[in-house]
Amino acid sequence: MQTFYKEFNQQLESLISNSPSLITALANAAAHLYHSLPDINWAGFYLAQQDTLILGPFVGKPACVQIPFEKGVCGYAARNKTSIIVDNVHTFEGHIACDCASNSEIVIPLLFQNRLVGVLDIDSPLFNRFSETDKMGLEQTAEIIANLPQWKDFSLKSL
Ligand code: SME
Repeated sequence: MQTFYKEFNQQLESLISNSPSLITALANAAAHLYHSLPDINWAGFYLAQQDTLILGPFVGKPACVQIPFEKGVCGYAARNKTSIIVDNVHTFEGHIACDCASNSEIVIPLLFQNRLVGVLDIDSPLFNRFSETDKMGLEQTAEIIANLPQWKDFSLKSL
């Protein structure tokens, strides 16, 4: 599995490093995640605007468009600037259900120069889908994405 993430993250880096815009990079990153990780039904990004997360590029069913920092698994990761694995979303207080097929979830914060710029969110139809190895591999994924230089001038209002 560690080898999987090593290759996955190398491919991601070459896929997004020369992107003409942040949205282009995030769209391809979501597609790469969705088509490479087994047993997932949603992969994508929420972007931070003040204390709210706004839906960004993703692959999966249409999703909730705004999530305040105090709500949901995504809000938890954003306000604590920490990754979270939820083995059973139905027992997580405040979980926001976008696709009723989702049973477990992982959310990783995107930190550009220690500033929260968004979160990476992945859902699975399996319970207990995400392990510590997934968390470590996906934290590297998030680091590659959060280190894109375009975050420096990024503002949702400019889109
Ligand atoms: N389940 C998330 C909401 C986003 S969807 O899963 C795509 C949450 O509770 O924050």
